[in-house]
Amino acid sequence: MKTVCINCSPKKQFCASAYFLMLQRLFVGGKKVTEKLRTPADHARILEQLKDAQAVVFGVPLYVDGIPSHVLRFLEEMEVFCKENDLHPSVYCIANNGFIEGKQNEPLMQSFEHFCTRAGLTWGGGVGIGGGVMLNVTRILFLVDIGLLLLNTVLSVVNTGNFFPKSAWISFGENAALLLYFNLGVLFYLARMGSAIRKNTCSGKKYTRILIPSFIFILFADLFFIIISFFEGGLFRGWLARKKIEQ
Ligand SMILES: Cc1cc2nc3c(=O)[nH]c(=O)nc-3n(C[C@H](O)[C@H](O)[C@H](O)COP(=O)(O)O)c2cc1C
Repeated sequence: MKTVCINCSPKKQFCASAYFLMLQRLFVGGKKVTEKLRTPADHARILEQLKDAQAVVFGVPLYVDGIPSHVLRFLEEMEVFCKENDLHPSVYCIANNGFIEGKQNEPLMQSFEHFCTRAGLTWGGGVGIGGGVMLNVTRILFLVDIGLLLLNTVLSVVNTGNFFPKSAWISFGENAALLLYFNLGVLFYLARMGSAIRKNTCSGKKYTRILIPSFIFILFADLFFIIISFFEGGLFRGWLARKKIEQ
């Protein structure tokens, strides 16, 4: 059994789609291949991988309530390729969006379902994830946690000769548990879909989100985007700048 995971984020690195596909791979057996779809130059390579694939998992960011245009171009080619080569892999989708409600991915999921019907492929279902950006940040926070634990251990060894600083481990455990909690909905539905991929069945469409209250999410999202906007030009060169109209 071979599963091809296609990371459809146009970002070169640190994309949420890569994070969710990495988690999905934990729950899928057999041969697993991950491919990156950014430009038409990637099409031929990915299509070649589909020849002996039983399942294809698309990791897609939601763009303007739909499928990003570079992915649509690929799906058009994939339809022709699968028909010409008589290929019928099951298609699964992990969609993620910036806003908190995972349900916003429903139109994207429907587009994938219609694509499967048209291309003669089997629709296997999908997971729509809200708060994708923030969930992606949790993996960085986890690495920072590990770094802090190592630093505290080194300091403890140097200062007291103690290899097991209890308070540092407790704080690490608390932080890791919190980050795990944020990701629980995602892990649950990806595990469920992983089981469907292994059995080659349909898992249906499921929607989840980062498990924090919406008002806290909005607070952090606003802060995050204000800080990012300063790096992107700030108040006067960004938000309040006169916009140039392209002819
Ligand atoms: C052009 C563009 C359009 C977007 N449209 C939406 C949208 O309609 N709804 C939403 O919740 N997020 C939207 N987002 C946010 C992305 O879905 C979100 O940042 C996602 O986590 C990106 O995934 P990636 O890191 O895998 O590329 C949009 C982002 C971009 C760049």
